[in-house]
Amino acid sequence: MINEILNNIAELSQKVMADIKNSTDLNQINDVRVKILGKKGELTAILKQMGRLSAEERPVVGAKANELREAAEKAITERITRLKAQSFEAALINEAMDVTLPGRAHAPGHRHPISQTMADIISNFRRLGFSVQHGPDVEKDYYNFEALNFPPEHPARDMQDTFYIDSDDGNLVLRTHTSPIQIRTMEKTRPPVRIIAPGAVYRSDSDITHSPMFHQIEGLAVDRKITMADLKGLLTEFCRMTFGPNKPLRFRPSFFPFTEPSAEVDIRCVICNGDGCRVCKNTGWLEILGSGMVDPAVFGFVDYDPEEFTGFAFGMGIERIAMLRHGISDIRLFFENDIRFLSQF
Ligand code: DAH
Repeated sequence: MINEILNNIAELSQKVMADIKNSTDLNQINDVRVKILGKKGELTAILKQMGRLSAEERPVVGAKANELREAAEKAITERITRLKAQSFEAALINEAMDVTLPGRAHAPGHRHPISQTMADIISNFRRLGFSVQHGPDVEKDYYNFEALNFPPEHPARDMQDTFYIDSDDGNLVLRTHTSPIQIRTMEKTRPPVRIIAPGAVYRSDSDITHSPMFHQIEGLAVDRKITMADLKGLLTEFCRMTFGPNKPLRFRPSFFPFTEPSAEVDIRCVICNGDGCRVCKNTGWLEILGSGMVDPAVFGFVDYDPEEFTGFAFGMGIERIAMLRHGISDIRLFFENDIRFLSQF
């Protein structure tokens, strides 16, 4: 009997050592441990037969069984250490990366060219002492036209240019220019006034140089002794800052209902530099803004005494200025959001 048990133990010992050696991962080795040494394992099963042995025989078998258990435990621990080391080595090789490869470049976004032009112009006027005002895009007819001295039959009120908004009082429009902010500002402050007012404006018009939504910056200065010379000086400085110090400009008489006298400012054509081309219609000049001395009738709407105060105003289209600065011939490019176009700025 004892010999049979000792034989079984010896066989099991060989088998367990081989199984441990052949295990290739931690799960497998754990299975071996449970199958051989566990409570329901093969060694336990063999030891259950010890009841049939004599008192002298039992310690002999017990010693062998312990020997096997200890040897197996030791082999298992070693095998686990080995397997862990191997998988670490493998990971080092498989997950290796070439730290000398160049990184992937991030392409950070940037401001839209219209926003950039707008921000440039605003910061230039801030340096000249102007502060920024805003007004609503949906505007009362009163501010957009009436208080700016547009006579009721003025063509700019025509349905063709203006988007009218259905409302109960029937007097709302999408503002067609930023000039209403002049009135809103003067209504709530007394002179001296020195403001610019940027924003979106809307006109029912669409072709390569007109978009139904575009942007303007308005300017207004009112004080005791403001003259046309101040207007010329400021706008000359503005043109230098925007188009460079050597760009010739001229003031050309014009008409706006809310300024008298009025002038438009032209710069030398950016395409032909004065020789004459299609863009400047052979005049050699390009119009960039409208301006003038605030009409006394406008002061009447905001309760400023025209005997005491004078002022000038100006308004310019941002898209037009951006087009001239960057040599862009189609305004729609600004609003199509084609990344190939936008990423050039
Ligand atoms: N509001 C005018 C327009 O949209 C531009 C303009 C002209 C504004 C003369 C002014 C100005 O302030 O004085 O065409």
